[in-house]
Amino acid sequence: KHGVLDQQQEEGESLTSTLPRREGWWKPFFLFQGCWLTPEALESATVVQAEFRPRADDVILATYPKCGTTWLKALAFTVANRSRHAVTAHDHPVLARHPQDLVPFLELPYRQLHPLHPVAELEALPSPRLLCTHLPRASLPPRPGGAAAKLGCRVVYLCRDPKDVLVSTWHYMNNVPGGFHIDLHTAFEFFCHGVSLYGPFWDHCRGYWKESLEQPERVLFLKYDEMMAHPTEHVGTLAEFLGVPFTEEEESGCVAEEVVRLCSFDNLKNLPVNATGVSDRIGGLPMKNSSYFRAGKVGDWRNYLTEGMEAKLDCIVEENLRGSGLSF
Ligand code: A3P
Repeated sequence: KHGVLDQQQEEGESLTSTLPRREGWWKPFFLFQGCWLTPEALESATVVQAEFRPRADDVILATYPKCGTTWLKALAFTVANRSRHAVTAHDHPVLARHPQDLVPFLELPYRQLHPLHPVAELEALPSPRLLCTHLPRASLPPRPGGAAAKLGCRVVYLCRDPKDVLVSTWHYMNNVPGGFHIDLHTAFEFFCHGVSLYGPFWDHCRGYWKESLEQPERVLFLKYDEMMAHPTEHVGTLAEFLGVPFTEEEESGCVAEEVVRLCSFDNLKNLPVNATGVSDRIGGLPMKNSSYFRAGKVGDWRNYLTEGMEAKLDCIVEENLRGSGLSF
């Protein structure tokens, strides 16, 4: 057992020594396949690439961090499992478990929590699997025997106005225990240079956006801001994509509205399981369960960014997305 661990560690060290590196956030970041990762995320990404085998009927919830992963996990879990768990049931899993724990990450937890093969646990899950990832499109492995460039399963991608992403990330990172603090101006500059966890933000969105245009039946591309404006319609779209559209009976019973209510920010934020306690889901980084529920608003960035910052970030994002048809 120790031999394998030592070997993994050595491989990780030799990889980081060859990659571009930036200091500044709470750890050094390494540029791997065009994406900035912590050493742990890097190690995990390489394990996923080497070992994760997508299945045709998998659905992966892919997000850039702080774009609403927690919300999407709760919604997708509730929609996908409503034949087993009635949305209004008093013992619904969403009432008892943190949404982060309802849908497993591909690349988490890291080796510290699960010493050998975290991917083996995913292998043991029955089909159809609902999984989650922050990895960029280019880093997802293909199906065994499938073409390297071909997506091995279906994906629901969620993104968000980058100004809200930055502000949300900044708050979250400053909640990292151990005295880590970064001022907003520094975080802003890093983000504008593309140096944020799983960044650059625009490359992350663009990879999945491109795929959603080429294969709309395989990638459902969602925006937090639009989901907040029209949640019921989006829950309907999600149900169709997951292969479990709402029946007429469910429609007349307002089940989609019930899903929205169960998974709403105010409802989730106030549940004891989400409002209290600390969990280490990443490995070595215990976070308050409540830190996934902050403001839950569109446009909260207006309370933090100056007009100059707004103009600069908008311009950078626009430039980097030019020609793609995607905008925020
Ligand atoms: P804010 O920091 O702007 O409030 P992630 O889950 O990807 O880490 O994203 C976290 C962001 O989603 C936070 O944004 C959080 O408040 C918000 N969020 C969490 N649950 C939500 C929900 N049920 N509805 C809407 N937003 C939610």
